[in-house]
Amino acid sequence: MAAYDVVIRHGQVADGTGKKLFAADVALKGDRIAAVEAPGTLKGDNEIDATGKVVAPGFIDVHTHDDTALIDNPTMAMKASQGVTTVVCGNCGVSASPYLRSDIGHFLSLIVKKQANVSKNFAEFAGKVDAARPAINGAFLIGHGTLRMNAMGDDLGRTAAPAEIAVMRDLLDQSLGQGAIGMSSGLFYAVANAASTDEVAEVAKPLGTWGGVYTAHMRDEGDDILKSMDETFEIGRRAGASIIVSHHKCSGRSNFGRMKETLPKFSEAMKSQEIAFDVYPYVAGSTILRSDMLGRADKVLITWSDKVPGMSGRDLKEIAQEMGCSMREAADRLQPAGAIYFMMDEKDVQSAMSHPGAMIGSDGIPFDTHPHPRLWGTFPRVLGHYSRDLKLFPLEDAVRRMTSYSARRFSLTKRGEVKPGFYADICVFDPATVIDTATFDKPISPARGIDTVLCNGQIAWRDGKPGGGRAGRALRLHDMQAEAKA
Ligand code: ZN
Ligand code: CU
Repeated sequence: MAAYDVVIRHGQVADGTGKKLFAADVALKGDRIAAVEAPGTLKGDNEIDATGKVVAPGFIDVHTHDDTALIDNPTMAMKASQGVTTVVCGNCGVSASPYLRSDIGHFLSLIVKKQANVSKNFAEFAGKVDAARPAINGAFLIGHGTLRMNAMGDDLGRTAAPAEIAVMRDLLDQSLGQGAIGMSSGLFYAVANAASTDEVAEVAKPLGTWGGVYTAHMRDEGDDILKSMDETFEIGRRAGASIIVSHHKCSGRSNFGRMKETLPKFSEAMKSQEIAFDVYPYVAGSTILRSDMLGRADKVLITWSDKVPGMSGRDLKEIAQEMGCSMREAADRLQPAGAIYFMMDEKDVQSAMSHPGAMIGSDGIPFDTHPHPRLWGTFPRVLGHYSRDLKLFPLEDAVRRMTSYSARRFSLTKRGEVKPGFYADICVFDPATVIDTATFDKPISPARGIDTVLCNGQIAWRDGKPGGGRAGRALRLHDMQAEAKA
């Protein structure tokens, strides 16, 4: 019998495709899965006992803002602790490269804490990620908002002129050539809100040439959501790119129940276009503090405030009472700041998550003082709360929405399945106990039931702490395309 580097024994394999659990041993050699065979037939130098556990592909967090967290916090505990082995970064229109300016500015500060971690081109940025040797992999989108800040300076309250569009398009083209996997837009945000549909569609053109994906934090997720979906579909169509609608939600009490409109619209559009969306398993969202969002939310919690310390984690209503002013005024006094907004309907979240087009993405914001619990809880919460406890979908399907489906949509070659020849990205978890422990009160808390997590064959997480493995990589589009052809 050939000796492998690692054999994971006696587990039930959820191979990522949605296929029913089956008993098998999984052998790893180097950074690959070498064999999946009947229990007891494989021998390894190291053995991991998975009796009573599920052996799944490492989870792919398709919606993150972890661009520079991979460099600053290379153990990536908030993700590895959930079984995540790949994060897709650069969502919502903001990426850490290519960035040609010397100031970070308010928008980039969402994802960047150190100036040294931004880069003037993607190749340099990906090099910084590799040099940091993160415990898990990163794949990177280029933010349309970041491109705008390069091409237009601070004059962002208008649509771009043709020459500026050309600058953005060239920067995107160059970045895709250097390995970025697509472009994200965040037309909801001030830096990009004035952009016309034409602007984004023109800038996005290189996606069609390179085979990059288009992800969209849509212009509106409330009253005008259907119009925004049409706009997003049009941009993808004109660019010749497959589309991922980010963190799909119907926001604000007056829009509760409108998944009945959006989901059939997705299903219809999916017949003629490559379209999917991601969902996080919570009724609250989180982003920067914006007074125009206050009316939409039932409750607002502060995640950070640069101006007034000690506000993180507190209810804005209480803060306003203390200050003796309106919530709007209190929000103004805290700026710049971040917030959590309770603005979704539980039933809507569940129907979105179980739609055939849905995959799981956390949208966690890594540097918040008091982050949304999704940063530490998303994947175990889907497995434990939604799949096991509420039986929203079978465990195998939950795993599929976090692995093979996501890998296929983002063209992450040979990831997302437990299959010989695939990369040894693995999550061993206990299906009986897996659950998130991060809450809105205590958001920084590792999940329960995640046993051992390997990325490229090295242990990224074990026994409730980082496992010492630092084998993550910046996944580059051309490498993945070449491997898909080979
Ligand atoms: Zn977003
Ligand atoms: Cu986001």
